[in-house]
Amino acid sequence: MSSSVFNLSLSDKDKIVTINGWVEKIRDHGGVIFIDLRKDLEIVQVVIEPDEKEIFNIAETIRNEFVIEITGKVKARPDGTQNKKMATGEIEVYANKLNIFSKSKPLPFQLDEYSKAGEEIRLKYRYLDLRRPEMYNNLVMRSNINNFIRNFLAKKDFIEIDTPMMTKATPEGARDFLIPSRVNQGKFYALPQSPQLFKQLLMVSGFNKYFQIARCFRDEDTRKDRQPEFTQIDIEMSFTSCEEVMTISEKLMVDLFKAILGVKLSKFPRISYSEAMEKYGSDKPDLRNPLILEDVKDIFFESDFKVFKDPANDEKSKLLALKIDKELSRSQIDQYTKFVGNFGAKGLAYIKINDLSDLKNGLQSPIVKFLSEEEISKLISRLNLKEGDTVFFGAGDKKIVFDSLGALRQELGFNLSLIDKSDWKPVWVTDFPVFEETPDGSLTPSHHPFTKSLSSLEILEKNPSKALSEAYDLVLNGYELGGGSMRIYDIEEQKKIFSILGISEKEANKKFGFFLEALEYGCPPHGGIAFGLDRIVMLMAGEDSIRDVIAFPKTQSAMCLMTEAPDKVSEEELDDLAIKSTFEEKE
Ligand code: AMO
Ligand code: AMP
Repeated sequence: MSSSVFNLSLSDKDKIVTINGWVEKIRDHGGVIFIDLRKDLEIVQVVIEPDEKEIFNIAETIRNEFVIEITGKVKARPDGTQNKKMATGEIEVYANKLNIFSKSKPLPFQLDEYSKAGEEIRLKYRYLDLRRPEMYNNLVMRSNINNFIRNFLAKKDFIEIDTPMMTKATPEGARDFLIPSRVNQGKFYALPQSPQLFKQLLMVSGFNKYFQIARCFRDEDTRKDRQPEFTQIDIEMSFTSCEEVMTISEKLMVDLFKAILGVKLSKFPRISYSEAMEKYGSDKPDLRNPLILEDVKDIFFESDFKVFKDPANDEKSKLLALKIDKELSRSQIDQYTKFVGNFGAKGLAYIKINDLSDLKNGLQSPIVKFLSEEEISKLISRLNLKEGDTVFFGAGDKKIVFDSLGALRQELGFNLSLIDKSDWKPVWVTDFPVFEETPDGSLTPSHHPFTKSLSSLEILEKNPSKALSEAYDLVLNGYELGGGSMRIYDIEEQKKIFSILGISEKEANKKFGFFLEALEYGCPPHGGIAFGLDRIVMLMAGEDSIRDVIAFPKTQSAMCLMTEAPDKVSEEELDDLAIKSTFEEKE
């Protein structure tokens, strides 16, 4: 513990002190009342003897979580009753004055039995949940991380600038939260999905190094690592390069982990997006997991097994194998088949290698009967299969195979204890495609539409889906911690991207006219990155949900159970905003 709130020790013996806090526990030991008084997670033992008639009767009415103040004398605890684990474990305070600031009803859940209470009740009474040491410590760690990052960047001459919360839409791939304007009826502000356009405009203004600890808002599905409202460490620099942004980011992370956890982060390897997908089935691979996917298309070009042959011969499909050196039971395999089904996989072919000397009977599998001996032999040598191994296969649509086998890789990694949970494995993922194809065949930006392309304008136009961008994501233990890129600073290039995305000139001007115009007044080459602060704190605190590192988070369905937001508003308020709801409440 750093500094003590009560700041009391044996050296204060015989001093008269006044201390206040919450009653953690109150016990009556044969007429003597003992109170554990708590503040900032620290405890001091208070003793009230029956001779202190004036306060003793009042003390008897005290219950847990009352807020009180006492004045009394510091005494050494009798031998055998000291508690070396506590900062104040060698003393106790004998009270002669007592003031109850406020009473407390019995808590809706016992703080040390929070898991029994369930998350709903914890979120409804979040201010009580935050009294728990785990939650309290998470928020203290968050504050320390914030301070560390702010100091780190300030020391490197980054200037902290706030950008507006009530603004125009900044696209980052989610829906906007809108705020209706009363003064300008029929018009809406959008809450920023990120400060992206503003930080680029600050580069045009000539602030060479910007940062902001910025609140961002995205109307998208909430998950364990996603909230509708979250915080970014947002960074931008002019006259910079990918190399410079990545170097500063690595230094920030290395120093942060050292300062907060005493952990030395190892090297930050770099892999391309396509390699990440091929080997790990994910663009945020957990490199603690030793399992690797293997492309086996070439073995099955001519196969009689249609499930494999069709995808082997289709550019938009994948045929991947995943080997583990463990035997699984039938019911385990059934469970994993169900698991990949959640990602759209139609099945999960497998082969269990029981006896390599007998390829006819030594392989246990629902598919070997469809495979030729040559195919099986090629598989054995390609995957270096040994007795006791199990191989899974994913075949079909690229996205489904990547998603399902990528998730299976991670599930097996945890279930088979292949992942060392105390380890930290950062990795940069680079060379992202500029665009992604949507199911309807149109293109959307892989990151945002201001990302600079590594490919020429010609490739961008002729073969946009092959174009790669100057973008990079920082991934840690399977989580995307941050992402950034070099930006377009040439207006023609920016216009071209909009046109490839099917955004007409008129629409581009309406949405981003202010920004396009700024590009015509001397825009430096620039780039940057944004880290998800909540995810950084979640990983460093060892939590598996960002809800546990946010003071007042939203639920899966984007509700605040404590305030009951979002809430209905009155007809009058809607009238002021010239808004009429078409929502019909169910009876
Ligand atoms: P991006 O959209 O990748 O990039 O966001 C950057 C980082 O923010 C975190 N993050 C989230 N955290 C919690 N809840 C969410 N809903 C959420 N969405 C994103 C992630 C992510 O890596 N403007 C660009 C950055 C840039 O190009 O400089 C941007 O916002 O950790
Ligand atoms: P079926 O021909 O559908 O009975 O499938 C034969 C075997 O292939 C079963 O073990 C299925 O689980 C598996 N299988 C079916 N479709 C796929 C697929 N798309 N990817 C991987 N395995 C599959």
